[in-house]
Amino acid sequence: MDLQGRHILLALGGGIACYKAAELCRLLVKEGASVQVVMTEGAQAFITPLTMQALSGRPVVTSLWDTAQPNAMAHINLSREADAILIAPASADTLARLAQGRADDLLSLLCLARQRDRVPLLIAPAMNREMWLHPATQRNLAQVAADGAVLLGVGNGPQACGETGDGRMLEPADLRDDLVAQLQPKRLVGQSVLVTAGPTFEPIDPVRGLTNRSSGKMGFAIARAAAEAGADVTLVAGPVHLPTPRGVRRIDVQSAQQMHDAVLAGLPQRGVFIACAAVADWRPAQVAGQKIKKAEGAAPPSLSFVENPDILAAVAALAQSQSGALYCVGFAAESQDLLANAQAKRVRKAVPLLAANIGPDTFGRDDNALLLVDEHGTLSLPQGRKIDLARQLVAEIARRITREHA
Ligand code: CTP
Repeated sequence: MDLQGRHILLALGGGIACYKAAELCRLLVKEGASVQVVMTEGAQAFITPLTMQALSGRPVVTSLWDTAQPNAMAHINLSREADAILIAPASADTLARLAQGRADDLLSLLCLARQRDRVPLLIAPAMNREMWLHPATQRNLAQVAADGAVLLGVGNGPQACGETGDGRMLEPADLRDDLVAQLQPKRLVGQSVLVTAGPTFEPIDPVRGLTNRSSGKMGFAIARAAAEAGADVTLVAGPVHLPTPRGVRRIDVQSAQQMHDAVLAGLPQRGVFIACAAVADWRPAQVAGQKIKKAEGAAPPSLSFVENPDILAAVAALAQSQSGALYCVGFAAESQDLLANAQAKRVRKAVPLLAANIGPDTFGRDDNALLLVDEHGTLSLPQGRKIDLARQLVAEIARRITREHA
């Protein structure tokens, strides 16, 4: 669980989006967090503290003058025990109060009392689009960001008031992911990372093609982990049914040739390239313009193949010519002799680091095990969730590029 052992202060300002905060609280608890809810008077006009108490398993604190606190200092206690403070929804009034550093209600006061170097403050605004666009709100947003808060942005779409535009609170699952990301170590700040993921699809005719069983989950997990670590991430994805990780730029492709072209067009000058895609080695030499039809008594069609470009080898060659400003990581999907195949493949592809796995054991699953191979030896990352392996891989990459650039 991504928030195991974390204590989150979830603060609700007034707004109809409070109904989504109930679901958010549930998601945080499900992820292992202990959640302390604080509600303003405005928030209590929309949903009751009882709802939030039932979902968080703790009494909600609503008042600055809470005598239930032995030392009568709710603002100090609450802000000291938290690993992060998330205001969702943050109303226009809440933002104005934060921007001014007000101390006359519990939410504003505990934010003022927060230890800024230790406890991140995340803000999920929610309001009508005109209120959102108003210069006063935009000024307040700029001020709270300058004071060190993390603004999580707003969604666009139909609003409870009947108008359509910017100002909807982000969805609970997105806010949970943003919070999880905020709490990850920032190992790749300032780095550009390009990841390939998923299978490729090589057409035979307009309705048929060749592909493989890669689900894309490992590559998507790596893109997410790199973004969580603070990198600027581009994900070049073959045909998969997966949501784009938060904060990641995604380019969808079908064939190996398209993936090759997209990678070379989007490759950063400096940074990291991670080739996780299960690229088809060959494609049909001819693609029929029309569907190939069965004919009575006729022999089945025979296919001949041509080799696809090797994307990783092409990028590795480019990286070598740029004297190491681009760090290349390959993957190896094997079905046997993992270590020997991985070591041979790393040398053949001329990459500093290769992550090997047993393909048939991992395709489509949420967990995996990796064997990392570099010039010094091997490191086994035992069976675990793909996102956890991805975070470990990111840590290993970060360690190596910091060493190389030191
Ligand atoms: N790869 C690539 N372009 C290709 C083939 C593979 O970029 N045309 C990359 C994969 O993304 C992976 C690595 O090369 O990072 C190894 O892929 P894999 O399929 O395991 O190896 P192959 O080179 O195809 O060798 P073989 O199929 O013989 O094991």
